[in-house]
Amino acid sequence: MTETNPNPQIAIIMGSKSDWPVMQTARDILNEFDIPHEIKILSAHRTPDKAIEFGKSAKDKGLKVIIAGAGMAAHLAGIMSAMTHIPVLGVPLEGSSIHGMDALLSTVQMPGGIPVATFAIGKAGAKNAALFATSIMALSDNNLEQKLLEFRAAQTASIPEHPED
Ligand code: RP5
Repeated sequence: MTETNPNPQIAIIMGSKSDWPVMQTARDILNEFDIPHEIKILSAHRTPDKAIEFGKSAKDKGLKVIIAGAGMAAHLAGIMSAMTHIPVLGVPLEGSSIHGMDALLSTVQMPGGIPVATFAIGKAGAKNAALFATSIMALSDNNLEQKLLEFRAAQTASIPEHPED
């Protein structure tokens, strides 16, 4: 699963093809903000060499943020943060009988020194990770900052006052 973009600024990576129905929520946000990105399946457990190489080369190929989604014993975000100093945003996914609590704890409980910013389990987390990545990019891009403010204003305007409205 690769989206060809010559100069991706953000990577969306995930441990398995089975994660895509949730992680495409992050892709949809980056598309909405026209942020060049790439998408890859990389597994800390099943394709560890590829995952490590990706993390090592992330900065040199111009990536600014990595969004990493994984379920169960989720080590993908952690191994990315071990391999690169660019921000790593972890999305725990609901891939097991304990509904993502395993992935949440695996992602959030990083030892001091190797940070992973951890988001909510599932689609809300994937959406917020992409919005957070957008906020990071907007710090150095006035047009993007404007789009982000418009997005937030439109979201506010879309909330009805009454549940039957
Ligand atoms: C993790 O294991 C993946 O991120 C996925 O959430 C989970 C289950 O993977 P599959 O068995 O569905 O490929 O590595």
